[in-house]
Amino acid sequence: MRITLRRPDDWHLHLRDGDMLAAVVEASATRFARALIMPNLIPPVVTGADAKRYRQRIEEALQNAGVDSGFTALMTLYLTEDTVAQDVLNAANDGTVLAVKLYPAGATTNSASGVASIDRVMPVLEMMADNDIMLCIHGEVTDPSIDIFDREARFIDTVLDPLRKRLPELRIVMEHITTGDAAQYVSESERNLAASITTHHLMINRNHMLAGGIRPHYYCLPIVKREEHRQALVKVATGTDNRFFLGTDSAPHTRTAKLSECGCAGVFSAANTLECLATVFDEACALDRLEAFTSANGANWYGLPLNNQSITLEKRSEELPCPPPIAVGDDLLVAFDPARPIFWHLV
Ligand code: NCD
Ligand code: ZN
Repeated sequence: MRITLRRPDDWHLHLRDGDMLAAVVEASATRFARALIMPNLIPPVVTGADAKRYRQRIEEALQNAGVDSGFTALMTLYLTEDTVAQDVLNAANDGTVLAVKLYPAGATTNSASGVASIDRVMPVLEMMADNDIMLCIHGEVTDPSIDIFDREARFIDTVLDPLRKRLPELRIVMEHITTGDAAQYVSESERNLAASITTHHLMINRNHMLAGGIRPHYYCLPIVKREEHRQALVKVATGTDNRFFLGTDSAPHTRTAKLSECGCAGVFSAANTLECLATVFDEACALDRLEAFTSANGANWYGLPLNNQSITLEKRSEELPCPPPIAVGDDLLVAFDPARPIFWHLV
């Protein structure tokens, strides 16, 4: 069996910098037409000038890798409490950035410069609402007294919903949702809210990470939840509500950084994400919805044209091998293990 789709886009991607950028850029650029590039470098991509320079480094990495696939890196700015509204407006108006990313301070990898108080970024958010600039949110509270498995649901009630009531015109993407609570909240919202979903959150639950041995390569943020949440995500990803789309959150860390006493959060899924998604949609008898999820809903949400190129996936009797580890300096980068046989292959 074969299916042909418009070439997909990835609405949430970590490409990093330096050696890691060089190691991972090809995996995304040969598969996806466009990707929304996360700004959580050290130091973060805060100003329009930072974003221009980072995009330049990505383009150089593409050239060095000999990738000529017409890949577009869509840039984001990292919102801090010192962000200058006029700089964001200029960067959006001249096409340097497509969106602004809000990380609650301390929520995830490299988020120390994030936002501790929404009040302090209200002037920037008001300017964004007035100028139709998208806000992408890492939706987890960071209060140490809140259980890590409850942080996303708590964020909806205590931060996201109040923000949406305060600034109803602001267009928001709740990124990499991981709970039935978030799926329901987005489904029930009337306007100006969408959500991205990762490949791995559609495939694994917390047992995959923690039962029968701890598997650090499945540790990511927001952390994988119970099976019922995974099922709720599959339901909206394969459903007819066009506000749900793919953001892989492919987030490479070296094997050493993952397998450490305090291991990093992040799953590197760029190299096998499309084959994995075909498997998920096939299992859900929803292959006819795959193109909307990977190649249309996100572009429509961001107001960008659909891609004209296409990709083909084929279901074969032989299993797709897990992508081999990639060398990064003198370390390795381990690819996402989908925890089940994959029979879909990219042609
Ligand atoms: C991301 C990273 O490593 O940059 N990690 C992750 O687990 N998803 C950060 C993020 O998107 O939260
Ligand atoms: Zn991410």
